[in-house]
Amino acid sequence: MDIELDYFSQQHWNRVAEARGTGSCDVGAELAASLVATVAEAAPRSVLDIGSGNGALATALATAIPAARVHGLDYSDAAVRLATETARTQAAPEVRDRLSYSVGSAMELPYEDGLFDAVTMLKTAWVLPDLPAALAECHRVLRPGGRLFLQSWCEPGECVALTLSGAVLGSAINGFELPDEAMAPFELTADLVTAELARAGLPVTDRRTFSRDVVAGTAAEYWENLRSLAGTAYWAFAVQPPEFKAALDASWEELSAEHADPDGVRRLPLGWHVSVGGRD
Ligand SMILES: C[S@@+](CC[C@H](N)C(=O)[O-])C[C@H]1O[C@@H](n2cnc3c(N)ncnc32)[C@H](O)[C@@H]1O
Repeated sequence: MDIELDYFSQQHWNRVAEARGTGSCDVGAELAASLVATVAEAAPRSVLDIGSGNGALATALATAIPAARVHGLDYSDAAVRLATETARTQAAPEVRDRLSYSVGSAMELPYEDGLFDAVTMLKTAWVLPDLPAALAECHRVLRPGGRLFLQSWCEPGECVALTLSGAVLGSAINGFELPDEAMAPFELTADLVTAELARAGLPVTDRRTFSRDVVAGTAAEYWENLRSLAGTAYWAFAVQPPEFKAALDASWEELSAEHADPDGVRRLPLGWHVSVGGRD
């Protein structure tokens, strides 16, 4: 089967937003919660969430930090529409009143200097076409003493929940490969985050590491988890015709078998870091 992956286009991220929809799996919620807990300690009054997607993190931040106004920015207008509509229809009024979203690019933030106490990036830093430019923009829009909170993945061996999707989809779907100039998710190592944040004038002041198993008894449960963990991979799966999805399910069964317990339930590790960069 073929797909056309126009990775850096707005059309691509609109497709991902539409495939993903709202909601989150347990591990996805835990990822967001790990970031929220770290951000809350800094007690910010204004937070910018870059690559806000369906708004799950922005909503969790506004809920957990009642003094904060939270603004989500995303390149995908479909994602911004979805997040705005979700806030309008589902968020409590006291949360909704402090939440807003707009369309824009991380490399050209449409905000004045020093506007935010905190900037967050969840599952976003590596998808950007120019991470150094985006980090320079984070530095510009953070006030002195502000903080950047950036999530990245642990080593591939600690993230079987993700590498498995590459193994199942990579060889089966023609075109499921990133352009040469893109950063693959595991290329953004903790060391590279340290180097890039230092270069942007946001040296790492703290780093926390989290891990959790993605538990799936069936291929369908696994894809449902992937929906909120790896947008592009989930989209590549979701657009396949039913008969081809059945073949992908069979491949998943085979490739994940070594992680099965006696009942056939797979426990697939996932590890991530939250790095905190401090602006002087
Ligand atoms: C993998 S998704 C993560 C979404 C959300 N943070 C989450 O945790 O579910 C990456 C997000 O980055 C957005 N994005 C891609 N390129 C961008 C850019 N240049 N500027 C801002 N957002 C961008 C995508 O539209 C997408 O919503």
